[in-house]
Amino acid sequence: MTPIQTQDYSIQFNSDCSTALNAYIKEQSFSNIFILVDSNTYSHCLPKFLEQLETSLTIEIIEIEAGEHHKNIETCLGVWQTLSDLRADRKSLMINLGGGVVTDLGGFVACTYQRGIKFINIPTTLLSMVDASIGGKNGVDLGSIKNQIGIIKTPNMVLIDTDYLNTLSSREMRSGLAEMLKHGLIHNELYYNKLSGLSNLTLEDLDQLIYDSVLIKKDIVEQDPTEQNLRKTLNFGHTLGHAIESFYLNHETKALLHGEAIAIGMILETYLSTALLGFPLEKALKIKENTIKVYGKVAIPKADLAPIMDLMRFDKKNEKGTINFVLLETIGKAKTNCVAPNELIINSFDFYNE
Ligand code: GLY
Repeated sequence: MTPIQTQDYSIQFNSDCSTALNAYIKEQSFSNIFILVDSNTYSHCLPKFLEQLETSLTIEIIEIEAGEHHKNIETCLGVWQTLSDLRADRKSLMINLGGGVVTDLGGFVACTYQRGIKFINIPTTLLSMVDASIGGKNGVDLGSIKNQIGIIKTPNMVLIDTDYLNTLSSREMRSGLAEMLKHGLIHNELYYNKLSGLSNLTLEDLDQLIYDSVLIKKDIVEQDPTEQNLRKTLNFGHTLGHAIESFYLNHETKALLHGEAIAIGMILETYLSTALLGFPLEKALKIKENTIKVYGKVAIPKADLAPIMDLMRFDKKNEKGTINFVLLETIGKAKTNCVAPNELIINSFDFYNE
């Protein structure tokens, strides 16, 4: 697959990944290399990755606990301290090998350690391949508020090797698929139809679909890297989805993966689109049906609505106290800065539950 060249870094795929990485390390004269992994990628991905790495530089492995619960400033402190103890300097390279938590947190640590060292993202989950690892959003959660602390700075390279997906559970795969469906809904109906028509994705189908998703995201981010307007469309489903994810984060049985929460958010926000932007109801019903077929339905009791809606206050698209949604005029055409009355938001949960 042809590498995708963004304005300031390249995204390599599959068999090109190791060649590109080894060549980059050779040309950059780094002082040493730090590989950030979590407890999952340490055992499932690191051995394969190390086999491909050709360098005589010292390699240090830094392992963090897996899971969104650890995407916080305490974990960063541990990684900063380890970098410092192991004498990382400005010519050190950080390689983030993992899912969205590792690439978001690792990118943030790299951007802030000694005011910034170079970093490479190697996403190992579908979600991080098509979304988190690309576009330069790095950061951590503040309590249960997602990505409240962070910085936008692009990685120096992204390596997408879909072989890593073999180690992923089907639940994790579905989580990543939600961001791909979102790319179709906001940008390209044909792509959405292709994705939603595939009930059993094979790795072969996926390679091309991942590539297409990365292209959509790259295209949007390049036009608006600092999210002044267009990039906000990538947050379709996220105003309500993030609030739902945050609300159930510590729930014993209902904790949702990011994409699972976004899938619900997309159904809710498609309903808002019908009411506010005249999005066709029959298409909204079809989207709901397709989505629930893949993700099932989560029972969201009425009593949970007020606290969930309260959490939307922390959404980063909000301006001057107004909660802003990204809604759809039609599939492939998203509109930013939409405002929805509370009553309609409550109705959107009825639409989901019906
Ligand atoms: N995940 C949305 C963005 O990168 O803008």
